[in-house]
Amino acid sequence: MGPKARRQPKRASAPPRSFPAAVSTLACVNGHSGKALITGGAGFIGSHLSERLLADGWEVFVLDDLSTSTLVNVAHLKDRRDFHLVVDSVLSPSIVNELVHKCDVVYHLAAAVGVRLIVEQPVRTMVTNVQGTENVLDHASRFGKRVLIASSSEVYGDHREERPLSEGDRRIYGPTTEKRWLYADSKAMDEHLAFSYHLERGLDAVVVRLFNTVGPRQVGHYGMVIPRFVGAALSGQPLEVHGDGTQTRSFCHVSDTIRALKGLMDAEAISGDVFNVGSTARIRIIDLADRVRELTRSRSELAFVPYDDVYGLGIEDTLHREAAIGKIGSAIGWQPSLDLDRILTDVIDHVRATSLPLEPEALEAG
Ligand SMILES: NC(=O)c1ccc[n+]([C@@H]2O[C@H](COP(=O)([O-])OP(=O)(O)OC[C@H]3O[C@@H](n4cnc5c(N)ncnc54)[C@H](O)[C@@H]3O)[C@@H](O)[C@H]2O)c1
Repeated sequence: MGPKARRQPKRASAPPRSFPAAVSTLACVNGHSGKALITGGAGFIGSHLSERLLADGWEVFVLDDLSTSTLVNVAHLKDRRDFHLVVDSVLSPSIVNELVHKCDVVYHLAAAVGVRLIVEQPVRTMVTNVQGTENVLDHASRFGKRVLIASSSEVYGDHREERPLSEGDRRIYGPTTEKRWLYADSKAMDEHLAFSYHLERGLDAVVVRLFNTVGPRQVGHYGMVIPRFVGAALSGQPLEVHGDGTQTRSFCHVSDTIRALKGLMDAEAISGDVFNVGSTARIRIIDLADRVRELTRSRSELAFVPYDDVYGLGIEDTLHREAAIGKIGSAIGWQPSLDLDRILTDVIDHVRATSLPLEPEALEAG
């Protein structure tokens, strides 16, 4: 665990610039336990985190440009007096300045995610993930606010061996000419930035490396295989298995992930450190497809699609992905509580109850 940094501003800062009129009406009005800023709070994980923090008595401010999410995710929250949605970008210094100044803690989840976005808009991906994070870290540092940075298991790169990945493991990357590594590099840069701000400017920061997180409201931006399989199974379409299906993944229920994020944020003694958050139960993709077919009672066939036909453009897949979670277990006693069948059942129920668009070109990368 790194040295504890407390919430002291490291340098004097000008008073924050005033909000646009639409935002200034969102001033806090009640005696909640605190104010939390969630960047990317209208997204899949962010919307669940918003619900959890509101339930715990926090006043929640969401900053989201809705680029990879939809208002539907937070529609049920928008009329609450303790929930405030600011539709803008983490790239905007004035907005980030105002919101970080206003809030007590910052969960930074906003990021350019998804294989299509990375391949088609690599500049936007790098700028959003690196410059956006730097903007948040800089303002959290100025105002002495505790910040949690959402990183990704992608930073481990392409480990070929079948074993859980620990926080201290080396990163194994391909060349920069392969776009597949761009997202991983951007998240690694975020981690370096967070640790650098912690060491050099005393920023109170904790980094989480999220492995595959799954649950209701997820769409295929990462190429999350579960919503893709469930959608296909429920509509009688073939379940597209990329490669031969022997690649393995571990899946964590979003409510378990939220418990980890909240637990790490609340553990104020933890600062300047990184933690894996994910499941340790690995399953082959081909077995996952069979389980989805069983639970949905689907007659859909499996369709095996060669990687070259799925990825192209320098995209390659990772063979195995499993989190070592001893470190977070020791730190805050966290471990996942919901198994794969519960995850699948929740996603199946959600897809049945809604008509969320699915993205069949999605990858299984986590
Ligand atoms: N879901 C997973 O399995 C997983 C795995 C590893 C890491 N992560 C990380 O967790 C975080 C949340 O991911 P998610 O799965 O909820 O994806 P998501 O796409 O649902 O959420 C990302 C949110 O960020 C918003 N956003 C993007 N650019 C923005 C900008 N410039 N300004 C403001 N908002 C912006 C999007 O509109 C979206 O609401 C991301 O940082 C992602 O890298 C997720």
